[in-house]
Amino acid sequence: MLRTRLTILYQLVIKGGVLLFCLFGPTNIHATPTTLDPHQLSTAICGACHQDIFAQWQSSMHAQSTALSDPVHGGIYKEVVGSPTTEGITLKGAYPVCLNCHAPNAALVTKTKLDDANYHEGVSCVTCHTAKHFKGIFDDKGAVLFGIQTYLLSNTHLQSPSGRYLAPELDATHPFPMEPNQTMLRTSQVCVGCHSQFHVLASEPNTQPTPTCQSCHMPKINESTHHAIAGGHSEVMIKRAVIVTLETQAEGKTLKTQVHLQNILPHYFPDGSPLRNAYLKLTAYSKEGQLVWHNFQSFPPVDTDDPQAFLSLIVVNETGDVQPILPHQITEKDIRSDTRLRPYEKRTLRYEITADNITVIRAELIYNLLPYDVINKFTELTGDLTNPVVAGMAEIRF
Ligand code: HEC
Ligand code: HEC
Ligand code: HEC
Ligand code: HEC
Ligand code: HEC
Repeated sequence: MLRTRLTILYQLVIKGGVLLFCLFGPTNIHATPTTLDPHQLSTAICGACHQDIFAQWQSSMHAQSTALSDPVHGGIYKEVVGSPTTEGITLKGAYPVCLNCHAPNAALVTKTKLDDANYHEGVSCVTCHTAKHFKGIFDDKGAVLFGIQTYLLSNTHLQSPSGRYLAPELDATHPFPMEPNQTMLRTSQVCVGCHSQFHVLASEPNTQPTPTCQSCHMPKINESTHHAIAGGHSEVMIKRAVIVTLETQAEGKTLKTQVHLQNILPHYFPDGSPLRNAYLKLTAYSKEGQLVWHNFQSFPPVDTDDPQAFLSLIVVNETGDVQPILPHQITEKDIRSDTRLRPYEKRTLRYEITADNITVIRAELIYNLLPYDVINKFTELTGDLTNPVVAGMAEIRF
């Protein structure tokens, strides 16, 4: 089906040679495709044929990774770097490091005015599909490389799983030259150049967990690789990260209660930016349904109430202030505390619950994309970014 549709489109676009021209203006792809630098291509050109993948990508945070589209990154970028629509802005006197990951097409040509060309497209088709070789996250002298700096990018050939000759029955090749590269596209290498900073400490820089990132984040659906690459913005993903179980024994008037949290992922929970955080909410109810015991005094909870219940990474700068972003390799000295669940970790939290007439004990693991101070700061954020999500829960009834 897909193949037939793509083949028909291919005939329309390449043989007919009109559709792209009409849709996107005078691109010169028909003339001498091999001389085009693929990084200048707009995703819309790929999307004209790869419609489903294009729609999935558009819904992803990769398509919204620049300061023009992501309200959270945008808010912080404007504060620490400057306007994303101005050319020549710098961070600490240098080209803003952020753009190597958040706006790769702009970073390739060291531009900062993101409303030009295809710079606003964020992590686009050509970012991943031109990554030819992963160099690692340190250069020869031991300095940290960021995002696209970690890759050798091809200026001539798209990288694809098979690089196969397209539509042999038409004696046709892909409209843009392609070469096979499964070492890149079928392993975590295509992800860790931008993501490893958030996963691993400097002592284990090139660790790549197995299974590969793609096996969970890019499942094959109807023979096609799903490109929505969901994460913290997806409730479905959040609910598949941690197993929550609950045990309790009565000792006199006290219910000795244990909550077990088991991370079933090969990476941290919560993973990603240090903005992500989670906490365990433990509550007990009477027969009448009244709340008779809880592990927090107030809501939103404060970590001093029940420190063991908080799962977060707190990163500080040289002067000890909390940093919401990590534009560098994390080392031990940058970390004030890290209470996230480590890969595959099983952790037990212990409580003594004392109250009369308890009939229900409920444990809920609550996930937040953003901490409360960030939510309060950027007041225009929508509910899908600010509402807590239940990542897992367990309940015992007596
Ligand atoms: C004129 C239509 C057309 C355009 C434009 C186009 N493609 Fe394709 N592409 C195809 C067809 C047809 C296939 C074969 C699909 C199949 O057989 O399932 C293909 C296959 C691919 C493959 C997989 C090759 C493999 O190894 O299996 C990749 C990756 C790819 N295209 C990326 C891109 C990117 C990135 C762009 C934009 C720069 C793009 N394509 C633009 C038609 C197009
Ligand atoms: C060029 C750098 C780059 C590459 C390569 C890259 N990413 Fe990302 N990724 C980002 C950036 C930047 C964001 C954050 C976007 C934002 O929130 O502003 C992101 C966001 C994500 C998210 C979060 C989605 C959400 O809902 O918040 C996931 C999951 C993810 N990437 C997985 C992957 C996987 C898997 C791969 C490899 C197949 C990959 N990334 C390759 C830069 C990259
Ligand atoms: C974050 C990196 C990333 C981005 C962005 C990305 N791709 Fe892919 N793409 C991959 C990976 C990885 C695979 C191979 C997965 C595999 O074979 O296991 C792939 C596979 C493909 C394939 C092969 C067919 C299939 O279903 O497996 C096509 C076609 C394709 N991508 C087109 C696109 C287009 C078009 C865009 C932009 C709209 C895009 N990709 C954006 C990483 C990316
Ligand atoms: C076994 C499945 C699995 C594998 C393998 C996996 N992940 Fe995840 N990932 C998840 C789930 C489920 C979540 C949601 C829970 C969380 O945020 O920790 C997630 C979350 C994330 C996030 C956080 C998104 C956000 O919005 O903050 C990023 C980034 C991410 N993964 C990247 C990767 C990368 C890169 C790899 C490969 C090195 C990888 N993941 C491998 C399942 C997986
Ligand atoms: C090495 C690559 C890299 C660099 C450099 C980088 N980021 Fe990011 N950034 C990412 C990735 C990957 C994510 C997504 C992590 C996740 O899903 O939680 C992200 C997420 C974020 C988020 C959270 C977005 C959200 O939707 O909640 C903010 C804010 C942010 N970055 C700001 C910045 C700023 C500002 C800079 C520059 C000072 C910067 N980043 C530099 C890769 C990078």
